Amino acid sequence: MKHMLSTSDNNLAAVIKTTQGAYRVMVGRGIIESIGLEMAAADLHGRAFIVADQALFPAGVRRCQEALEAGGYPANVLTIPSGEPAKSLDTARQIYEWLGGQRAERSDVIVALGGGVTGDLVGFVAATWLRGVAFVQAPTSLAAMVDASIGGKVAVNLPIGKNLVGAFHQPKLVMAEVDYLQSLSRRELASGWAEAIKHGLIADASLLDTFETHAGEMMSLSGEAAVKAIRRSVAIKAEVVSADEFETGDTRVLLNYGHTVGHALEAVTGYGKLLHGEAVSVGMMAAARISQRMGMISGELVDRQRAILERYGLPVRASGVSVDAVLEATRSDKKTRGGAIRWVLLDGVGKATTRRDVPENTVFEAVGELLR
Ligand SMILES: NC(=O)c1ccc[n+]([C@@H]2O[C@H](COP(=O)([O-])OP(=O)(O)OC[C@H]3O[C@@H](n4cnc5c(N)ncnc54)[C@H](O)[C@@H]3O)[C@@H](O)[C@H]2O)c1
Ligand SMILES: [Zn+2]
Repeated sequence: MKHMLSTSDNNLAAVIKTTQGAYRVMVGRGIIESIGLEMAAADLHGRAFIVADQALFPAGVRRCQEALEAGGYPANVLTIPSGEPAKSLDTARQIYEWLGGQRAERSDVIVALGGGVTGDLVGFVAATWLRGVAFVQAPTSLAAMVDASIGGKVAVNLPIGKNLVGAFHQPKLVMAEVDYLQSLSRRELASGWAEAIKHGLIADASLLDTFETHAGEMMSLSGEAAVKAIRRSVAIKAEVVSADEFETGDTRVLLNYGHTVGHALEAVTGYGKLLHGEAVSVGMMAAARISQRMGMISGELVDRQRAILERYGLPVRASGVSVDAVLEATRSDKKTRGGAIRWVLLDGVGKATTRRDVPENTVFEAVGELLR
């Protein structure tokens, strides 16, 4: 009964089943203190090597380190610079050298403490160090909690493109300590909510209702509403990942709602101008308008989606970019296969589907409306 060892299951958001094993995703306040118990329940032993985003230094890092040591895991710490440029082979090499210097072994555990940049980079290191060692995700940004830390996609960027070198390497455990979100900027928080709202739009009408009625609590992170919404959002991503681990089926692609135009906007505006969730917000407006033009949803749902996104301070239109440039960029998005773009569209509230038969002029009109 390994389960008996673990902490309160009230904080259990999901169990993710993969070919590399099943793992628990915990979401709550004050849960990082149980990281040792959870790691023991996940059958992890050895020493812990925490690689942390500098933004968590010193208090957030110390909290995680003390929790690990109290739980019986001697813990070493390395901090890495904040921001996307750190997700590089160069930083990976620095982490390998640190692990080598500390004589980290196959039986040890690497802990990624930070946002999606840290999780992707450290997960990549864990996938490759000594041909693969166990790792734990401790996501500290909302985007990482509801998205990046779940599903086992790990990668680093190359100068010629994002996420070009990577692997599927599932964590053994995900510990999302909601307290960490207190220090996250409002803009990063809203950007994370965009992905969670996306989960409601594509898969859960009642989650969307919650986002609509509790926007204030979500943005102030007060009460239980935000914690519950993160848990539910995690569960949706977990279901999708469990159903389509390697994105070979028709399920995982649905998570790309808003991402075709979103990625295009990020590319056209120059990476870094728009936060990812902000670009996805505008991209979801494009996808909703296309869905409406395809006769799949009503204008009211498009308006409702817009109103929800606006309540989180998310952009619902873009300026200073041309429709042609955005359309050109959608065509070169890596998710495009065999010519026709596979659009993820809404079929109703909480229901998404893919279509390859969207006429170019429909896209042109829908995107044009957002760029004016
Ligand atoms: N693996 C996947 O499935 C997946 C999915 C989506 C995104 N991603 C990747 O995730 C990355 C984006 O993740 P992100 O949005 O978390 O970016 P990020 O890791 O850069 O974090 C965003 C910013 O918040 C800061 N930060 C993080 N936690 C903080 C905290 N608790 N307090 C204060 N500041 C904090 C970071 O230093 C950074 O400046 C991208 O590289 C993207 O490719 C991966
Ligand atoms: Zn995204």
